Amino acid sequence: VKLVEWGLLPADAIAPLYWREEARWRAALAWDTTTSWTTVESARVTWGLPGFVCCDGSNTIRGWTFYLSHDDTIEVGGIFADTPEATDALVERLLGGATSTTGFIYATAPGLHCALTARGISVERFSYLARATNRVPSVRAAAHFRTWRLHDVGATATLLQRAYGSAGRLFARDNSLAQWRVYVENLIAYPGCGLLRPDLSRVVEANGELAALALVTALASDTAHLAQLAVSPAARRAGLARALVGEALRSAHASGFAQMSLLVADGNAPACRLYCNWGFAERGEFLAWRSDTPQ
Ligand SMILES: CC(C)(COP(=O)(O)OP(=O)(O)OC[C@H]1O[C@@H](n2cnc3c(N)ncnc32)[C@H](O)[C@@H]1OP(=O)(O)O)[C@@H](O)C(=O)NCCC(=O)NCCS
Repeated sequence: VKLVEWGLLPADAIAPLYWREEARWRAALAWDTTTSWTTVESARVTWGLPGFVCCDGSNTIRGWTFYLSHDDTIEVGGIFADTPEATDALVERLLGGATSTTGFIYATAPGLHCALTARGISVERFSYLARATNRVPSVRAAAHFRTWRLHDVGATATLLQRAYGSAGRLFARDNSLAQWRVYVENLIAYPGCGLLRPDLSRVVEANGELAALALVTALASDTAHLAQLAVSPAARRAGLARALVGEALRSAHASGFAQMSLLVADGNAPACRLYCNWGFAERGEFLAWRSDTPQ
C-alpha cells in the first residue's frame, strides 16, 4: 500500500469516500452526517485540512484519514479502511510525527484497536447505544427539572468537571474548568456531536448550582442524542440520572424523535448499568484516546 496526501486528489476521487461513510453512519447509527462531510471537504479544498488516502497496488483507495494538527498534537478526525494493512499504514503515518495524539472516532476500520495499542496508545472503547423513545415508563423524580439555558454554560462546566473527576481528561485536556468550558462551548457551537437542543435538555438546581443535567442534541431528523448526562457526586444514587433519562426520552419523543442514542465508555459501570436498565442496545463501537507520549 502507499499513502498519498489527499489534498492532491480531485474532488470526484474523494466524494465516494464521503458517500460511503454517510450511508454507513445513517444505516448503522441513524446519524445524519451529510453536513459534516460537506464541512470536511470544504476545509480540505480551502485551507488544506490535512489527510491521507491509502492506495493498493492498482491505485484503488483502501483507506483514508484526516486530522487537525496544533501544538505538536494530532487530533484525529477519522480513520476509515477496508483492510488491516490500510489501517496500519494510516495509523503509522498519523502517529509518526506527533508528540501527542487524541481521537474519538467511529471504529469500523479493521484492526484499528490493534494498530493503536501496538504503538503504545491506551484506547478506551465506547459503545454507541440506542433505543426507541416510545414506551417510556414514568419515573417519579424527587427533583424539579428545568430546561437548559445558554447562561448555564459556566455551571455546566463546573458540574461536568466535578462529575467526571480524573476520567474527564478525555473531554477536557487538562481537566481544568477552563477546558471544560471550552468543551461545553464547542458542544454548542459545532455539530460534531449533533446540534444542541436546549429545549430537550434538562438541569436540576440545588443551592444555586447545577446538581444534575442531561444535554440532548439532534443527530438526524428522527434521532436525538444524549450527549451528556452527569450528576454531582453529592447527589448520586437518588435516582436523578434514571429520571433525567426518562425525561429526555419523553421530551425527545414529543418533539418527533423516534429514537435516542448515546455513547458510553465500557469501563463506566454505573452508566452502563443505568442504560442497560433503560433498554438501550449496542449499535456500534467508538474508540477514544488521549496520548501524550506515543511510541
Ligand atoms: C452515571 C451517573 C450519571 C449516575 O447518576 P445517579 O443519579 O447516581 O444514578 P441513579 O441514582 O439514577 O441510578 C440509576 C441506576 O444507575 C445504575 N447506577 C448508578 N450508579 C451506580 C453505581 N455507582 N454502581 C452501579 N450502578 C449504578 C444503577 O442501575 C441504578 O439503579 P439502582 O439504584 O436501582 O441500582 C453518575 O454516576 C455520574 O454523573 N457519573 C459521572 C458522569 C458519567 O459517567 N456520565 C455518564 C456518561 S455516559
